[in-house]
Amino acid sequence: MTGPIRPSTGAAHTRLYSVGGYRPARLVTNAEICEHIDSTDEWIRTRSGIATRRFAAPGETIQDMSVAAGGKAIAAAGIAPEQVSAVIVASCTTIVQIPAAGPEVAHRLGATNAAAFDLNIACAGFCHGVALGSDMIRGGSAEYVLVIGTEKFSDVVDPTDRSIAFIFGDGSGAAVIGPSDVPGIGPVVWGADGSQASAIEMNADWVTKATAGERAFLQMNGQQVFRWAAYEMAPVARRAVEVAGLTFDDIDAFIPHQANMRITDAMVRALKLPSHIAIARDIADSGNTSAASVPLAMETMLERGEIASGATALLVGFGAGLSFAAQVVTIP
Ligand SMILES: CC(C)(COP(=O)(O)OP(=O)(O)OC[C@H]1O[C@@H](n2cnc3c(N)ncnc32)[C@H](O)[C@@H]1OP(=O)(O)O)[C@@H](O)C(=O)NCCC(=O)NCCS
Repeated sequence: MTGPIRPSTGAAHTRLYSVGGYRPARLVTNAEICEHIDSTDEWIRTRSGIATRRFAAPGETIQDMSVAAGGKAIAAAGIAPEQVSAVIVASCTTIVQIPAAGPEVAHRLGATNAAAFDLNIACAGFCHGVALGSDMIRGGSAEYVLVIGTEKFSDVVDPTDRSIAFIFGDGSGAAVIGPSDVPGIGPVVWGADGSQASAIEMNADWVTKATAGERAFLQMNGQQVFRWAAYEMAPVARRAVEVAGLTFDDIDAFIPHQANMRITDAMVRALKLPSHIAIARDIADSGNTSAASVPLAMETMLERGEIASGATALLVGFGAGLSFAAQVVTIP
């Protein structure tokens, strides 16, 4: 009889080493959005808080944007690409399903020793990736994990659909996670409510539309999503702070998924956040970039001096699925 299989063991603790973002060159104003829908700059700003967003160039792919952000994050982490043991590309807008984007992204980054795969959990993708990457390092299946959230909504949003055309943008945000002497990533609070799967969904599968010579587009029940996010994400955020063994007095920054400024405001009110906590409001400039929004907002807050390295931040990702993931992290 053979002995027991040796289990893998990893680092005691993990932390974020770096964050890196990529924003496509083309800035799209509300005025440009309103060329295709019956709306106004004022309506869009009032209802969503969005003033501008970025759209990728037509030939610019999920992989291109992921490599740009991922390369920045690896360089800022001070590690060599060969030291990355896993590349996780979180995206819900990969219009080519096979192969996954991860392997090409890892190859182009020079992460030749990395497992590479995709994660499709929409706007909660980055926070799921951080949780997975952290547990992979603690479990011993990875040393450094590159988590990238990347979206190209301009491929899947109908510019003439006034219920959705103004919300989403394109971009990529990445972070390197690695071993740490002290805990830098708290336990994740995550879950899903598939009974509300139709709240944000493609209006058809690719085959059905292609057969009819049409394109599939994203559709959203805005009020249903708003209600769920504004009222059900505050308890998730509160729980993430509790399971980290902290209180809101210990939190320096609140970085929720940048879905809609009014959702952020509703969460801030529901959580009764102390005034010392810096609130991410990158949505004004970037729109809703789904899986990319949390790392892009984190990078923006660092660049603007709204938070400093070593600060304690509460991250909350939520969106299509419906799905969510939240955790407390130390800012790299
Ligand atoms: C999308 C959203 C901004 C719409 O705001 P809303 O207040 O719910 O808007 P409604 O759909 O109730 O429509 C209100 C009015 O605005 C109008 N309207 C809808 N879209 C409009 C647009 N783009 N421009 C101008 N008017 C618009 C409607 O026709 C309606 O007019 P009426 O009162 O004369 O009937 C809001 O529901 C929302 O933010 N939902 C969450 C979306 C989100 O965050 N998604 C990402 C999740 S990851």
